[in-house]
Amino acid sequence: MTVDSSRWIWAAFACVVWLSLWIRPMRKKLGTWQPARGIARRLPTKEHAPSLLIGYASQSGFAALLAEDLARNLAAGGHPAHARSLHSLSALDISKADRMLFIVSTTGEGDAPDNAAAFVSRVMSGTLNLQQLRYGFLALGDSSYANFCRFGRELDAWLISAGAIPAFSRIEVDGARAAALDMWRQAVERFTDHTLAVDPLPSRQAVLAQRWVLVRREILNSGSPGAPIHHIVLRPKEPAVQWQAGDVARVWIPNNSDDMPMSRDYTLASLPQSGYAELMVREVLRPDGQRGLGSGWLGHGLAIGGELRMEIRYNREFHGPEATIPLILIGNGTGLAGLIAHLEARALAQQLGQPIGPAWLLFGERTCQFDALCSERLEGWLASGVLTRLNRAFSRDAEASAHYVQDFIGLYRDLLQHWVSHGAAVYVCGQREGMASGVDAALRQALGETLLEQLTIKGRYRRDVY
Ligand SMILES: Cc1cc2nc3c(=O)[nH]c(=O)nc-3n(C[C@H](O)[C@H](O)[C@H](O)COP(=O)(O)O)c2cc1C
Repeated sequence: MTVDSSRWIWAAFACVVWLSLWIRPMRKKLGTWQPARGIARRLPTKEHAPSLLIGYASQSGFAALLAEDLARNLAAGGHPAHARSLHSLSALDISKADRMLFIVSTTGEGDAPDNAAAFVSRVMSGTLNLQQLRYGFLALGDSSYANFCRFGRELDAWLISAGAIPAFSRIEVDGARAAALDMWRQAVERFTDHTLAVDPLPSRQAVLAQRWVLVRREILNSGSPGAPIHHIVLRPKEPAVQWQAGDVARVWIPNNSDDMPMSRDYTLASLPQSGYAELMVREVLRPDGQRGLGSGWLGHGLAIGGELRMEIRYNREFHGPEATIPLILIGNGTGLAGLIAHLEARALAQQLGQPIGPAWLLFGERTCQFDALCSERLEGWLASGVLTRLNRAFSRDAEASAHYVQDFIGLYRDLLQHWVSHGAAVYVCGQREGMASGVDAALRQALGETLLEQLTIKGRYRRDVY
């Protein structure tokens, strides 16, 4: 170091000391010294904590409800938080976050819910550095499925491989077990340093089973080469809860063998305004020749006038768009139940004098003679304008132009593109393997991957498949 440069350094040091001595009393005196306030504002105090991001992946809406209730709960206690579905999150969003909570369900055969598909293909396929991120993870699943919580586990493993730090071990919920949800609540309280005001279990999910009476039962497809489909009509014994098109009935089936009732889910085919809950139940024949537990009891065991317990599950991901939005409904077999509920909603709107958008139903079954389910109702809706177009594919009919419902998608590609370009939403209900997977592949071909992804993100492509 030269003498000159050391002189400069000492001079600079003296300036800094002098400035700091001068600034301190000035700051006290003025009290509003701008730069200092600016710095204080950016520091995360408890009052001004940055908003906590809660990412969820949900197929039938439970994870979404938990996430939204938790965000509301935290915000009500003065801790800003917001819930966002994974498909609305980009790599940048999570790279910027330093604290996150994940609430993630698994569907299908261990798969990601539809509203996480874009996240899987866009974000999880890449490598990110998430060393800044501390997170808590709730995986929702059901151990009666072979791949318990598989998607949750995959996402958690991916976060760890990207360097993110779990604040506590992943909590897995089997069904909606209260004990695991309680553990989650306590872990969230520690993570956020915040006491949650009320139980975060959404009240809408905790609907108690009500008593219903079987008032009518008929087979919709007598003579069909396929298994019988029972149309089950139930009347509530107590004032019924409300529901909307897309919601699901959970029926408790008595089980003599070990006295533990088992539940079965069926998409509702009616609206509460009719006074009845209608279900479509396909009879299952097990390899040993026995009827399936749920379908056997509902189709044969339960007598007319007999009672059952049933709760209505809020299935937000399959709720309909505004009645004026053009609607393309695609399904097969008992999937017609969920599609009919949406048409019922439009018929009701029409009766009330409200404007309704066009609706196009594409439906697949085996034979025109025996499997044209609910034909009269559909023809009536064609006449009244509730339904604009009806295409049915019958796989066992030799002369048919389309054998499977997905064949229509290639056949009417231009028309489909036209509907979608005019804002149509696409709703698919029914069998996952074969039908829904085939429809999905055909839609990707007809509309393109990017457009279908955008439709999913905007909630214009929704599925209730099983
Ligand atoms: C059609 C269907 C398939 C499912 N597949 C699985 C699975 O493979 N593994 C699992 O752990 N849970 C599975 N589940 C259970 C769900 O993860 C569980 O019910 C969860 O609470 C649903 O949350 P959601 O409403 O947010 O989608 C499945 C549920 C349904 C209805």
